[in-house]
Amino acid sequence: MAEFTLPKNSRVQKGKHFPAPAGAKNVRTFKVYRWNPDDDQNPRTDTYEIDLATTGPMVLDALLKIKNEVDPTLTLRRSCREGICGSCAMNIDGTNTLACTKAIEDCGKGEIPIYPLPHMPVVKDLVPDLTHFYAQYASIRPWMRTQSPTPTRERLQSKEDREKLDGLYECILCACCSTSCPSYWWNGDRYLGPAILLQAYRWIVDSRDEDTGSRLDDLEDPFKLYRCHTIMNCARTCPKGLNPAKAISEIKQLMLARTM
Ligand code: SF4
Ligand code: SF4
Ligand code: FES
Repeated sequence: MAEFTLPKNSRVQKGKHFPAPAGAKNVRTFKVYRWNPDDDQNPRTDTYEIDLATTGPMVLDALLKIKNEVDPTLTLRRSCREGICGSCAMNIDGTNTLACTKAIEDCGKGEIPIYPLPHMPVVKDLVPDLTHFYAQYASIRPWMRTQSPTPTRERLQSKEDREKLDGLYECILCACCSTSCPSYWWNGDRYLGPAILLQAYRWIVDSRDEDTGSRLDDLEDPFKLYRCHTIMNCARTCPKGLNPAKAISEIKQLMLARTM
């Protein structure tokens, strides 16, 4: 019988412990995934005890306090610190979300586990490698494609047509949804996943775009689109409250409608 074991270097080991400073009264413990491609060691989880009286209210505040004052070797991405850039996406307390909009007080009791987005290659510590994700985004050619002459001022859109973009244009491409999707975990090489399909739909329903047929042709593929099994993890985890599963279902309905 075949025997499957994880490679030795995949085991996450117990790491260093950084105790709270003397006199700290409001302490929370953060258990943070660490991995450095340069030291040939297994991944580990380091624990940091942080005095919440000396940090801001969000998980990102605590991570930056760790990086700035406790352990400068910790690596993470962040930019806007207000839920706009999507770069601080990670798995916090068991859910993919944005560190800058996740309040520490909204995490469960006990230590707060923080890992990189799941099922992605790791560059270092909390930084996932999004190369493939962005290549998939580029593959849908996410810009307005037109054949009609360019108007002198702008391409107009009715209020009703503009409203069709609500729930789509807000996507910040953080990848929380795609990395929570079991179908994307197992078929991410060929399945586009919820984030990219939501973005594809955003252009399909844009009344100003004139390449709908070709956009649908590009998605007519057993893997690119049809690996979604409506498990709904994507909608549950999206930190912007969007529903990629609904967008996917709308694409499937458009595919069906054009065969009838
Ligand atoms: S749909 Fe939501 S979770 Fe997915 S990439 Fe966009 S903002 Fe992030
Ligand atoms: S609904 Fe589809 S895209 Fe969303 S998590 Fe489930 S399989 Fe993935
Ligand atoms: S830092 Fe930009 S979304 Fe969190």
